[in-house]
Amino acid sequence: MEVLISESYDEMSKAAAQVVAKTLNAKPNAVLGLATGSTPLSLYKELVRLHRNEGLDFSQVTTFNLDEYVGLTRNNPQSYHYFMHHNLFQYINIPAQNIYIPSGTTDNYEAFCQWYEQRIVDSGGIDLQILGIGTDGHIAFNEPSSSLGSRTRIKTLAQSTIEDNARFFDKPEDVPIYAITMGVGTILEADRILMLASGDNKAKAVAAAIEGPVTSMITASALQLHQDVICLVDSGAAAELTMTDYYRWIQDKQPGAPQTVPRPHFRKKSIVDRYLES
Ligand code: GLP
Repeated sequence: MEVLISESYDEMSKAAAQVVAKTLNAKPNAVLGLATGSTPLSLYKELVRLHRNEGLDFSQVTTFNLDEYVGLTRNNPQSYHYFMHHNLFQYINIPAQNIYIPSGTTDNYEAFCQWYEQRIVDSGGIDLQILGIGTDGHIAFNEPSSSLGSRTRIKTLAQSTIEDNARFFDKPEDVPIYAITMGVGTILEADRILMLASGDNKAKAVAAAIEGPVTSMITASALQLHQDVICLVDSGAAAELTMTDYYRWIQDKQPGAPQTVPRPHFRKKSIVDRYLES
C-alpha cells in the first residue's frame, strides 16, 4: 500500500483528483468505480473544476457506483443516485448510458446483482476504484463480518453505520436498514484502488485497515491483499497510524532515490513512482 498523508482535506482531495485525471489522460475510456459519502465531495468538486477549466474529458468514461440504499428511488435526495447526479454527473460530459449505480428499487435483487457484476466484467473491469471508509472500517456497505470474497448483494447495515449516516436524513428512523453493495471481492478486482479518509473520527478505522490484521471485521483491511492501493489520508485520519514517519519519509524522499522496480502487471505508474522519478 502507498500511504500518502496530506495536511488537509483540501490537499487530499486535490491529490485524489490528480490520480483520477492522470488515469483518464492515460486511458480516456477508463472505467471508474465511484463512492459516495462526505469524503469524496471535494474530489468531485475538483474533477468538475478540472473538466470546466482544464478540459478533463469524461466523454468515453464509464462509471460504476459502489452501493445504494434499498427502498430509495433515484429521485430521493438521500439516494446515492441523487448524490452522484447532484455532485458530479450533471456537471461533466459523461454520457448517461455509461453511468451505472446499483438500483435500490429493483423487484429482483438477485438478478440485478448478477447483472451488475456482469456489466463490470463486460466493461473491461474497473481501472480505478475510489473508496471511502466507514468508522467501523467498512468499504462500500461491506459491514463487519462480510466475506472478503463477497460479491454484489444486499447487506444489512450495522447500527453504527445507521447512526453515522443519520446526519443525511431528517430522522434516524428514515435511514434504510438495507443496502445493495458491491462485495469486497468485487472491489478487489479493480486494477487500482484509491482509498480516501479524512478526519480524526476515521483514525481508528484507518489504522486498523492499513496496519491491523486482515480481517472481515474491518473489511477495508482486505485492501492489504491488493497489489495497487493508494491510501490518501489527511492528518486527522492518519492520527492513529504508527508508521507515519516511514510513510512520510517515502513520500518526501525524492532526490537520488533508486528507481522502483517496474511491476510488470501494472498498467499505470503509482504516485510514489512519480515522486521517485521527479
Ligand atoms: C457510507 C458509504 C461508504 C462511505 C462511508 C463513509 O457508508 N456506503 O462508501 O465510504 O459511508 O462516509 P463518509 O465519507 O460520509 O464518512
